[in-house]
Amino acid sequence: MNLSEFDSVPLRSEVSDIMDSAEIKVFNKSHSFPVVMGSEEELAIDIGSLRSQSGGVITIDPAYVNTASCQSKITYLDGEKGILRYRGYPIEQLAEKSNFLEVSYLLLNEDLPTASELENLVSQVSTSHNLDPFLNNIIKSYPNHAHPMCILSSLMVSLAVNETGGHELQSSKEASAVLAKVMAQTAILSANISRHGSGLGFIKAEQGLSYSENFLNMMFDNKGHKNFSTMASALDCIFLLHADHEQNCSTSAVRLVGSSQVSLYAALASGVNALWGPLHGGANQAVVEMLESIERDGLSFEQVLDKAKDKSDPFKLMGFGHRVYKNFDPRSKVIKSVCDRLLGDLGVDDPLLEIAKNLENAALEDDYFVSRKLYPNVDFYSGIILRTLGIPTNMFTVIFALGRLPGWFSQWFEMHSSPETKIARPRQIYNGHTNRQYIDISQRV
Ligand code: CMC
Repeated sequence: MNLSEFDSVPLRSEVSDIMDSAEIKVFNKSHSFPVVMGSEEELAIDIGSLRSQSGGVITIDPAYVNTASCQSKITYLDGEKGILRYRGYPIEQLAEKSNFLEVSYLLLNEDLPTASELENLVSQVSTSHNLDPFLNNIIKSYPNHAHPMCILSSLMVSLAVNETGGHELQSSKEASAVLAKVMAQTAILSANISRHGSGLGFIKAEQGLSYSENFLNMMFDNKGHKNFSTMASALDCIFLLHADHEQNCSTSAVRLVGSSQVSLYAALASGVNALWGPLHGGANQAVVEMLESIERDGLSFEQVLDKAKDKSDPFKLMGFGHRVYKNFDPRSKVIKSVCDRLLGDLGVDDPLLEIAKNLENAALEDDYFVSRKLYPNVDFYSGIILRTLGIPTNMFTVIFALGRLPGWFSQWFEMHSSPETKIARPRQIYNGHTNRQYIDISQRV
């Protein structure tokens, strides 16, 4: 492949440049495919016509480790260099200067809002506080011990009852109003889920509080706390850092389910479900449980690392490793500093923070983790911040979901708006029995 010579293959995609062509030789016959390049010079062979060109040959890539499922303009991630940008803006700058609602606007609309556009979004969120009572009745019908993600999943799809399916949305302006409503209502429902789990009554959302302040106050009725704004700003940063992460498991689920043209809320519920797993968003709960068990059982770091390295043991070092980041996770650097600042400001001395830092240092000196490029990910320190805010451990993944909601929504909207979108339908290589004849039950041994 010679990238200096542009190929004349016609452009299949509306967004990427064709840079060259790649040859794939199957049974001595060569087939030519365009090599497309994204705006950050990522290259991909577009094998969309392989099956038709080759008379039935397909590619196989379990867990999509080497396959782009779409083209997207929302989030750029370079795992080797530890880069994460929303719409081109580095995550570090956004974490320092922006806020969750502004970033939500950015993800959906492509550009940062003007002052009046942001004001409009803030007002749309704060005027979307009226919940249909049946949603709270769903929460109350669950036993107190139900996992919050289980309840959130059923509530997310239940939002479809009073809403249109979202397919009528033509512009990001129209979509903004729907995003504002789903964000506002999911925050209220999430706080109510938590209070129901603790056997407490619900607290109404208030005008005049920011998104994160409102959520904290609905959780704890604590707007009078002397450190309330410090706490809300740490939570806001956690939401912002989780807001999108290109084609991760839950976002891919939202796109795949949404591609059948199901209701927006059913697609978002699939994101909630995918996120719950401990290898994805559920890792933030698992990290704190792991650190608590180290503290409780007095395990040495060597024992924990040995357990994580033992291939016969399903235990993994939670909050470590990432499919894409092979250097460092830029979100974890920001989170670590937010964590240090919050605990310092509040004068909290959490022994788990010390354990986490020492465990991180031990892992980063261990050849198993170094050679596999396993570094702390976003979930390693976020749980300590959430604990400091008083959020129950089983609510941590709900916090991740609240943060990821604008990302899921924006990715769904991008997919929905693209004329290229088709229903997602992977193929398979069948390796079961070949044709055989039915055996009567009396003849089976
Ligand atoms: N502890 C011990 N070994 C690990 C870990 C870990 N946390 N992560 C990866 N490895 C090993 C893995 O066993 C494999 O070893 P080998 O080459 O000997 O077979 C090697 O490192 C490569 O890992 P992989 O399983 O091929 O990596 P993956 O891309 O399939 O999985 C991951 C990525 C995040 C699921 C995995 O690293 C993991 O399970 N980490 C712990 C759970 C976690 O923290 N998840 C949160 C991810 S970040 C938040 C989000 O966006 O979801």
